[in-house]
Amino acid sequence: MDAIRIRGTRKLEGRIQVSGAKNAALPILCATLLSDGESLLRNVPGLRDIETTAALLRFLGREVTVGIPQVRVHAGHRNGLAEAPYELVRQMRASVLVLGPLVARFGRAKVSLPGGCQIGARPVDQHLLGLEALGAKITVEHGYILAEAARLRGAEVVFDMPTVTGTENLMMAAALAKGRSTFVNCAREPEVEELGRVLNKMGARVEGAGTSVIHVDGVDELAPFDHTIIADRIEAGTFLAAVGATGGNVLVQGCPFDDLEPVIAKLRKANLEIEREGKDVRVSREKPLRGVDVTTAPHPGFPTDMQAQFMALMACAEGRSVLTETIFENRFMHVPELLRMGADIEIHSNTAIVGGVEMLSGASVMATDLRASASLVIAGLVADGETIVRRVYHLDRGYQAIEKKLALVGADIERINIADED
Ligand code: EPU
Repeated sequence: MDAIRIRGTRKLEGRIQVSGAKNAALPILCATLLSDGESLLRNVPGLRDIETTAALLRFLGREVTVGIPQVRVHAGHRNGLAEAPYELVRQMRASVLVLGPLVARFGRAKVSLPGGCQIGARPVDQHLLGLEALGAKITVEHGYILAEAARLRGAEVVFDMPTVTGTENLMMAAALAKGRSTFVNCAREPEVEELGRVLNKMGARVEGAGTSVIHVDGVDELAPFDHTIIADRIEAGTFLAAVGATGGNVLVQGCPFDDLEPVIAKLRKANLEIEREGKDVRVSREKPLRGVDVTTAPHPGFPTDMQAQFMALMACAEGRSVLTETIFENRFMHVPELLRMGADIEIHSNTAIVGGVEMLSGASVMATDLRASASLVIAGLVADGETIVRRVYHLDRGYQAIEKKLALVGADIERINIADED
């Protein structure tokens, strides 16, 4: 089994390239189900989640050619089922993103219920209530969601909370519905806005993606597209935090500064120097790290997907910081592992109180989910001695060759093979 070995305390210097955004690429791949013909996605990151989505689209009868950083999806021969099986959905919750496109386009979709995951229960009730409002008949049985509608029709949906994939599923469904849909309390993440751009390229009429109210005027058919995916703000933010932890000076190439503003504001407070240089962002740190409080919130708040990495940074800052997680109920799985590395962290319900320590110490640790893994990599980069991060398949879901990218800026990091310890 793969693991990552890090020998810490090296400063990072040089240039590091940001890949395309995972959470933009996944819904856009699913949007290919809305049309016939061949779509071309560019700047797609090389990740396990992309492979899983490609496998799902193939299962649904599409021809998918993955040649990173490009993916081609051709309509191919659709099988009669329009079904996303448990085997694929359990590997990646975002598989639920085929639900909206399938029912809108083919009148019927059968998608496995995702179930919970390490970071929380993560229900999909908002997706289902929204599709029901658009006229789909929804039944849930034997672990599967069955959605049926001869033709969806436009409706108004007010989400109980901003949900990223819920908003995306509904936008895709409404794009082929009859009439106008209005969605209120939508997720405003840049990836939602990006999906809106792609749907409009396909001939959809989506207005307001990236704001809390989205209008979609349904059309009868959509066309294939050619699109270059935006940069991954969370990968970029992870690199900024890594340089903050180790010190040094790195040009993060293709870093989406505007999308990262809430993160950059907190990193600057923690004493990082962060400046735009054209399309890139330079990050450095000379002064000691300072403890800063953070509360996660839907965009444009501080992203939950950066909380674990920020905690690794705070673990070695001067002073105390209070990190509050408001999006997912179990997103502190990295804490017991950081404690093994000498961090001083107490958890009280959804709040972690982090007392910075002078030095973390390298240890053998276990990745539990994607962002927790990134947090352990950052901790390993700054820790004294050797850190082995196990179960890196979590990391491979969302970071393209992170060990190679970090090695290029001077980290002592490599992928190794260790005996299977599960
Ligand atoms: N929620 C419900 N009911 C729903 C949908 C959501 O109660 O029907 C709740 C969730 O349980 C959570 C909150 O609403 O408490 C927000 O969840 P959201 O639906 O926005 O999350 P998601 O769409 O499942 C996406 C990202 C996650 C990211 C979250 C929050 C993708 C593919 N995934 O998930 O990314 O953490 O938004 O920003 O876009 C990651 O990349 O590591 C990752 C987990």
